[in-house]
Amino acid sequence: MTESANAAGGVSPGTVYNLVFVPGDGIGPEVIAAGRRVLEAAGGIFAFGFDWREVLIGGVAIDAYGVPMRKQDLGACNDADAVYFGAIGDPRFDDPKAKVRPEQALLALRQGLGLYANLRPVTIQSVLRASSPVRESLLDGVDMLIVRELTGGLYFGQPSEQRETPAGREAVDTLTYTEHEIRRVVKLAFELARGRRKKLTSVDKANVLSSSRLWRTVVEETKVDYPDVTVEHRLVDACAMTLIQRPAAFDVLVTENLFGDILSDEASVLAGSLGMLPSASIGEKRTAHGLHGLYEPIHGSAPDIAGKDIANPLAAILSGAMMLRWSLGQPAAAEAIERAVTAVLTDGYRTPDLLAATGDATGLRPVGTQVMGDAVVAALQDVSHVGATR
Ligand code: IPM
Ligand code: MG
Repeated sequence: MTESANAAGGVSPGTVYNLVFVPGDGIGPEVIAAGRRVLEAAGGIFAFGFDWREVLIGGVAIDAYGVPMRKQDLGACNDADAVYFGAIGDPRFDDPKAKVRPEQALLALRQGLGLYANLRPVTIQSVLRASSPVRESLLDGVDMLIVRELTGGLYFGQPSEQRETPAGREAVDTLTYTEHEIRRVVKLAFELARGRRKKLTSVDKANVLSSSRLWRTVVEETKVDYPDVTVEHRLVDACAMTLIQRPAAFDVLVTENLFGDILSDEASVLAGSLGMLPSASIGEKRTAHGLHGLYEPIHGSAPDIAGKDIANPLAAILSGAMMLRWSLGQPAAAEAIERAVTAVLTDGYRTPDLLAATGDATGLRPVGTQVMGDAVVAALQDVSHVGATR
């Protein structure tokens, strides 16, 4: 079994990957612990291993070191084969006057590692259709990939500050995009669309924003190289509506940083819970095994449910699968994890977020974070066995 698995992965047996893991704040440590157990189990089956290095980033780093991320920890993330990330954010730093905030570290990490593209796949597990507040018939055929620009736009533009003026306080944020920043993420989105249903939706606000008009122009210029891909432009407000009205209409969506942040949370409603959606952040840098990248659930640190063993670990677990595929050259193991997740959901395992909308839990198994993780580990043995004997 091991040999065939590795042949599929194209990596020599016994490879040990150097990974940094960042538990972070809130529910981060819980979901990442479950994810690590699943990755270890996959390594056991597919004959690879991990050398894990824990790094404190976020509120926990402010507590330990006084800064949300130390320089050497950014260095460790840069040197690793990939970064496996929980979540950061802590209400103790919500005070608008706070000088240091956990989120600054995540932005510095994305920028420092050159992770300009954030891939957020939105797929619907058919057994979870009832968990979505969206009518089930609208969910047929929903399978989209949101490509969010991650190191530009309002998140990074300068100046970004509050200041005193004779007329009172004012605040400014700056939305800048260079042609280069737009082109590289748009090209990647075209490439990804080419490997899927060949449809690209570019989302902007070109009726108002200059940066969006440049964005649209660059998409038009780039499409010449991808005659096989159908392109459409949508304004972000109308797109937000269509995402709920006709979600199956989308294949690949590409958009700037803030629009992508908002639309991806919206799209998670289709999947039944924010706790289901994984993400991969990648850039140009390659390692011996694949693209360097950072893998994190799209959800935040959810401080209100932290430490209670009730958070859904599946987004973190599925982020681990994306890491195996994009950064570690282990597509067979990635697929096995994805199938194991489907298997546990089919078996009725549900964390509270997935039960919320269902109302009726008959035949379902309400579980916590760690039991859900254990269930995926157990299912992994089964699906890998089936895969090997096929
Ligand atoms: C996300 C999050 C982050 C973002 C926050 C935590 C800074 O919402 O990854 O979507 O806005 O990018
Ligand atoms: Mg977000």
